[in-house]
Amino acid sequence: MSIIDWIETKKRGEALSDSALGAIVRGFIDGTIADYQMSALLMAIVLRGLDVNETITLTRAMVESGDVLDLSTLSGPIVDKHSTGGVGDKVTLALVPILAAAGVKVPKMSGHGLGATGGTLDKLESIPGFVTELSNERIVAQLQAIGACICAQSDRLAPADRAIYALRDVTGTVDSIGLIASSILSKKIACGAQNILIDVKIGSGAFMRSPDDAFDLSQMLIEVGAAFGKRIVCANSDMDQPLGRAVGNRIEIIEILQLLRCETVDKRLLSLTLALSDEALAVAGKSERAAEIVASGRAYAAFARIVHAQGGDLSRVEANVDQLPYISVNSPATGYVSHIDAATVADVARALGAGRMRKGATIDPAAGVWLTKTMDEPVRKGEEMARLLAADSIRVTPALQKALADAYTITHNRSEERDMIQTILSSKDFQ
Ligand code: URA
Repeated sequence: MSIIDWIETKKRGEALSDSALGAIVRGFIDGTIADYQMSALLMAIVLRGLDVNETITLTRAMVESGDVLDLSTLSGPIVDKHSTGGVGDKVTLALVPILAAAGVKVPKMSGHGLGATGGTLDKLESIPGFVTELSNERIVAQLQAIGACICAQSDRLAPADRAIYALRDVTGTVDSIGLIASSILSKKIACGAQNILIDVKIGSGAFMRSPDDAFDLSQMLIEVGAAFGKRIVCANSDMDQPLGRAVGNRIEIIEILQLLRCETVDKRLLSLTLALSDEALAVAGKSERAAEIVASGRAYAAFARIVHAQGGDLSRVEANVDQLPYISVNSPATGYVSHIDAATVADVARALGAGRMRKGATIDPAAGVWLTKTMDEPVRKGEEMARLLAADSIRVTPALQKALADAYTITHNRSEERDMIQTILSSKDFQ
């Protein structure tokens, strides 16, 4: 059988055999399967789905495309975290140093931007000098020395995910439960942690639009993880609105620095960061609370250590947001911000240059959207609601200004506050 047969098999909605999935991953990595054939297969998978067994097999083939880190020399609890991706989701950047400051080891492998959602690697690579591709030996040495690293897939760690992920990003083939679960878990398994917290986002700025879809993805992640002996905990959290004020790359780093320095930040961002960090600390068996770790300055120090260890120069990032060149979007009315459409904000940020439209395209690290007003905040007619930022001002068009203005809903009354985390699921929920 050939890739053409396998595309036909999935197009008819039939399951792919273990040997077919293995051959597909190997063929794509060694170049015998072309990008356009893989894209066709990925689209058939998005439309027809993968069952649990196919997802386990695909995950295994992606893990086996590289090495699995040996963390047996590390002492203390080891916990990993991942997000299914959101708009302005920068929680990992605070959670990893919070855990490291508490003595938890965090071997965190992240991805670049995917579809309309931002990628932790793009955010970190916007720090001048920051290196995300680390050798296996360097990852283990960094974990031993400072407790955490945030790195990319490499030629030796989940390389199949790197290649497939880059193609999915630009072919509209992200939102498949089987593809998302195998992509996330292949990275997590390659990185070797036993306990993994996954933030499964729900809403217009996420790949899972409804609570039912988020539940199904959580179940898939937990069941596939269990097949590899991993303990997975899924937190299902709100992504109907962007998270925090910054949507982009360097501006998201600036916002996370504000949070780690205990400056005033968006309350939804702070509450989700602390809640997920507390959950991860509990998974690691630690009783310390995230809020105390941040307040003591230890989380900021741990973040600075990670950046320094990976070659980044924080002093070249710490410009105040007000110093960045921008164009404002002003409010058409007086009232309260009752909704900001996350998908629209993501599209605007991508069009400004913060994300990719073609595989391998370079992004503008300074580009993005700054939401001067976020959920529930009062705003007066004519007052600034948001800013558009781009190194290349030609990208800032009146159409984007209008799209960003239209993303806001301003009402007379404040809307009801919603909990950021809607449910927490683990294997006991599926027994
Ligand atoms: N994060 C990943 O690493 N992969 C996906 O497919 C989605 C989110």
